[in-house]
Amino acid sequence: MLDARENLFSATTFAGLPLRNRIAMSPMTTWAANSDLTISDAEAAYYRRRVGGVGLVITGCAHVLPNGMGFTDEFSAADDSYVESLRKLATAAKSGGAPAILQLFHAGVRALPELIPNRDVIAASAIPAASTMFFPAQTPRAMTEPEIHDIIAAFGQATRRAIEAGFDGVELHGAHGFLMQNFFSPATNQRQDQWGGSPENRMRFAIAVVAEVKRVITAHTDRPFALGYRISAEEPGDNGYRIADSLALLDHLIDAGIDYIHTSLGKVLTDCPMDEPNGPTIAARYVTHTAGRIPVIAAGGLRTPDQASQALALGLSVVALGQGLVMNPDWVELALLGRESEIATTLDTQRITALAIPQKLWAVIAAAEGWFRLAHRAP
Ligand SMILES: Cc1cc2nc3c(=O)[nH]c(=O)nc-3n(C[C@H](O)[C@H](O)[C@H](O)COP(=O)(O)O)c2cc1C
Repeated sequence: MLDARENLFSATTFAGLPLRNRIAMSPMTTWAANSDLTISDAEAAYYRRRVGGVGLVITGCAHVLPNGMGFTDEFSAADDSYVESLRKLATAAKSGGAPAILQLFHAGVRALPELIPNRDVIAASAIPAASTMFFPAQTPRAMTEPEIHDIIAAFGQATRRAIEAGFDGVELHGAHGFLMQNFFSPATNQRQDQWGGSPENRMRFAIAVVAEVKRVITAHTDRPFALGYRISAEEPGDNGYRIADSLALLDHLIDAGIDYIHTSLGKVLTDCPMDEPNGPTIAARYVTHTAGRIPVIAAGGLRTPDQASQALALGLSVVALGQGLVMNPDWVELALLGRESEIATTLDTQRITALAIPQKLWAVIAAAEGWFRLAHRAP
């Protein structure tokens, strides 16, 4: 058995980028931008505090068009006036010495009506969405053909801004029920045109975005610049897609030119496909299916160095930590020094300021019951 530190701390080249270790900061929204949707000082401080040890930083999601905004106080990448703000984020995210990737998205059916122009929520089809922890129940308007092309182009323009701002890559957010998933899912895409119906048609939007982003990367930079895709491996519900479907999409995304795939899971170590609950885990299936064509990242429920090490041993290239890094900005340093007993698995509510958690993010966490495990103690 390898010492936990050995596999986690081996250097590698990932999508052309040199990584000092295999631990990534998972993309995490901070709900803490300035009122003009530029990066706030509190957000920059939150990143600076967490990037000293990780091998790779993936930022929280930025919307590519104003009508794609899915969270309150979410920073924007929607026009050129935001390049300076994105540079502030890139500088903070890279201040620890690791490369940084900007996550891009359009919220689709999960856009918040009060935050977007004319409350005009758009998605692949006008299928009602149920409410979830952060999103309202609502019925979107089906996008027109020109709108589809506008959004594909907007992903490309946001990528150009990421290049200008100094990022080392972009990650397309194809997970968590946002627009890219709205198109891929048979449950939410019932279009009759070339963008819906058959699996091939439902994949067309994601592939077109990848192709446009790839074109922009080639046209605007000669330096290594990673193009990743975040994916939800399957969906609940009778009409939701299953792992075989998302693996088929993955094959097409690889052919279209993505440099890595990032599976977003509840628990990397134990989540199995719905149809094969006793089979190999989803993470293992992704590794096997990808067969070394591109690196695979997975996130979900990794709290301790042992868990992260076990996940990496599945054949992942990189493991991503979300809550672990919120609760422990020095997670990597503690693991490296063998001080894992000091790594918290609950969020100490007395240490919000000490942990450089923006007050707005803390307000969201405190209100989202059951999301984080909170440790209340007397001040
Ligand atoms: C505060 C917070 C914000 C998040 N925001 C995003 C986001 O912007 N984009 C995304 O793909 N996932 C987001 N996630 C999900 C995480 O990237 C990760 O997949 C999830 O938290 C599971 O990993 P964990 O158990 O290590 O936290 C967020 C998670 C947290 C805790």
